Amino acid sequence: MRRITGKQVVDLGPTEFADLRAQYAGAVLDVGTGDGKHPLHLARAHPDRLVIGLDAAKDNLRKAATKASANPKKGGLANLIYLWAPAEQLPAGLTGITELHVLMPWGSLLRGVLGSDPAMLAGLAAACGPDAAFLITLNLHAWRPPVPEVGEHPEPTPESAVEDLGPALAAAGWRLDAAAYLGADEIAALATSWTRRLNSSRDQLDVLALTGVINPSG
Ligand SMILES: C[S@@+](CC[C@H](N)C(=O)[O-])C[C@H]1O[C@@H](n2cnc3c(N)ncnc32)[C@H](O)[C@@H]1O
Repeated sequence: MRRITGKQVVDLGPTEFADLRAQYAGAVLDVGTGDGKHPLHLARAHPDRLVIGLDAAKDNLRKAATKASANPKKGGLANLIYLWAPAEQLPAGLTGITELHVLMPWGSLLRGVLGSDPAMLAGLAAACGPDAAFLITLNLHAWRPPVPEVGEHPEPTPESAVEDLGPALAAAGWRLDAAAYLGADEIAALATSWTRRLNSSRDQLDVLALTGVINPSG
């Protein structure tokens, strides 16, 4: 797998990843991490978890990756790595994920989490262990007016999302349990740059959080 450590891209082999993964009780994968601020926040808050930020674009990862790979005495975080890969082609050996986040997706990632790319959803599920929790936060302005990636899906609401999006997600092993609008404090708590950027350019930022379980055992 292609690990970003700053300006450098280094190869992280499946065995090396497995050794790293084995040091932590849980592993959170943030897909479409952008500039990686959300995983930075998670890794600081949860030193007992391995946190992985993954994005198809590598350049925005550099700053956070430089911080993460610094010496722990200088603020580096041993439990945080950044990977450069598209969600459609996850690196071989990326397994053991116990929690998956997809925050403010756009492009093919948005299309995928809306159920239009079953192979992407199945690939992400394959990286997860049983009963992995997922959090997807949708920027509802993608429907106002609709961007091409939302396809035929009407804007989801807390009432409609489980019925409209649930079946396609379920077919790939994702059980959608709940959908809820996020308040300003909850959006801020995600510590992502996109929510901050969008919030400053709009009076109100409407975000719908989808939560559920991947590979449910029950
Ligand atoms: C609107 S930004 C959100 C970034 C971050 N999650 C946040 O909330 O600040 C969407 C991100 O998804 C990434 N992305 C889009 N399609 C992707 C795909 N197929 N695989 C991985 N990343 C993807 C983009 O490169 C971009 O960084």
